[in-house]
Amino acid sequence: MKTVLPPFVHGFPAPAVLIGCGSLEKPNLITCSWFGTVCSEPPMVGLAVRESRYSYHLIQQHRAFSVNIPCVSDLKAVVHCGTVSGRRHDKFRELGLTAVPCPPLKDTPMIAEFHLSLACRVRHELELGSHHLFVAEVLAVHGEEIPAHAANRPHLHADEQITYLDGKYWALHEVALAHDR
Ligand SMILES: Cc1cc2nc3c(=O)[nH]c(=O)nc-3n(C[C@H](O)[C@H](O)[C@H](O)COP(=O)(O)O)c2cc1C
Repeated sequence: MKTVLPPFVHGFPAPAVLIGCGSLEKPNLITCSWFGTVCSEPPMVGLAVRESRYSYHLIQQHRAFSVNIPCVSDLKAVVHCGTVSGRRHDKFRELGLTAVPCPPLKDTPMIAEFHLSLACRVRHELELGSHHLFVAEVLAVHGEEIPAHAANRPHLHADEQITYLDGKYWALHEVALAHDR
């Protein structure tokens, strides 16, 4: 039976994405799970970052970031970028990843080796308490084209993506719908 418990905001799956921020000359990566879609027209995402993060100041200064979607094979990068700070670490170099521009953003780094990246321009910043919420417009998606797909959707590699829940990483698998009863 359910009972009333204190507020708890970690009880459901969240993504674990790598946010590219800073400049091409001094790029940084931060792992974030407090991230999600908040509007479809215009396409907008929300990203919550603590003020104490080095990345917070980079995002605020440049008003832009890239979102890089990792796969299970990228778990080492997810953990590293979520554990060490760009104040003292060159995370791109340490992980052997390549920082390339994320058009139309000219000076915002994205990860060349990842399948899917979003170019985001910050439109609003909301000071919430422990975290600041950046609301950003998705200006472009960088992905592998699905040939002849009418809507120009990128290949998602969905069954290779990961989710974060209860302090652990989980792999995704499709749950088939039962059509006939
Ligand atoms: C799975 C995971 C999710 C995280 N999500 C967030 C988040 O949504 N917001 C945040 O501010 N920090 C988050 N962190 C913590 C930062 O990634 C971590 O403090 C990082 O080292 C900050 O790097 P920076 O100092 O280079 O910005 C997360 C860490 C992990 C491992």
